[in-house]
Amino acid sequence: SPLIARTVPSLRRAVDNLRKRKSTIALVPTMGALHDGHVSLVRLAKRRASRVVVSIFVNPTQFAPTEDFGAYPRTWKADIAKLAAEGVDVVWHPDVAAMYPEGFATRIVPEGPALAGLEDRFRPHFFGGVATVVGKLFTQCRPDIAIFGEKDFQQLRVVTRMAGDLDLGVNVIGSRTVRERDGLAMSSRNVYLSPEERQTATTLYRAMKDSAGRIRAGEAIGSAVARGTEMIEAAGFALDYFDVRHARTLAPVTSLKDGPLRILVAAKLGSTRLIDNIAV
Ligand code: PAJ
Repeated sequence: SPLIARTVPSLRRAVDNLRKRKSTIALVPTMGALHDGHVSLVRLAKRRASRVVVSIFVNPTQFAPTEDFGAYPRTWKADIAKLAAEGVDVVWHPDVAAMYPEGFATRIVPEGPALAGLEDRFRPHFFGGVATVVGKLFTQCRPDIAIFGEKDFQQLRVVTRMAGDLDLGVNVIGSRTVRERDGLAMSSRNVYLSPEERQTATTLYRAMKDSAGRIRAGEAIGSAVARGTEMIEAAGFALDYFDVRHARTLAPVTSLKDGPLRILVAAKLGSTRLIDNIAV
C-alpha cells in the first residue's frame, strides 16, 4: 500500500526516494471522496510516469463560507483502498495547518482563463484558492507531470496557464471525463442528490449533446444555446450558465468556424451545484 506523507519534509523524503533510478513522477491532486473519475486520472498517470503521487486535501481556501467545506464527503479508508489497488506510490495528505501554517500570507491570483466569466462569476474566491493550493502542491511534490480532469475544464485551463506562467516545470495533462451509464459526469458531490434529483441530473449531459449536435449541423450558436438553456430550466434546474467558448482560451465565440468549441454548463438542483462540459 502507498506511503502516506503528512508533512512537507516527509513528502520530500518520499519523493526523493522515488526519484532515484531516474524515475518520472506524476502528481494527481484530489480532495478525496474518490470515484472512478479520479481512478481514471491515476491510471493515466501510471501510463505516463513510472511513479505516482496522489494528494488528498480538502482545500478550505477554494470554498466560500456559504459553501460545503464542512459537509464535503470524506471517505479516507475507501480512498486509500482504491489507491492501493491502483499501485499508487505515495499519498500526500497534509492537514490544514501543514498546508497553511499560522501567518500564511501569500496567494497566487490567476487571471486570463480564471476571469473568463464562467465559474469565476459564481465562485469569485474559487480559482485563487485552487491556483494557490495547486502551486503549493507542485512545489511540494516537484512532479514531472500532473493530471487534471476535463470535468473541471476552466480549472484545467487555469492550472495549465499558471504552471507555464510561473515556470513551475510541471507538464499539466488533461484527462477525459468519466460518466455514469446515463451520461451524468461522476462527481464527489453526486452523493448529495436525492434519487429524484439523480434522475433529473442527466438532463445536463443531454442538453449539451443536443446543442452540440445543433451547432455541428449549422444552427446558430445563440439558438442552440437557447434550446439547451430551455431544456435545463424545464427540468427544474436553477441555471448559472450554459455557454459555448473557445476550447483553449475560453473566449466567447460566434460561429462554428471560431472552433475548437466547448460547451460548458453549471446549474443547481436543489442545493447541489453541478458542472459539466463537452467538446462541440
Ligand atoms: P476534485 O474535485 O477531488 O477533483 C480532482 C481531480 O479529479 C480534478 O482534476 C477533477 O477534474 C478530476 N475529476 C473529477 N471528476 C472527474 C470525472 N468524472 N472524470 C474525470 N476526472 C474527474 O478538482 C479538485 O478536486 C480540486 O479543485 C483540486 C484540483 C484538488 C485543488 O484543490
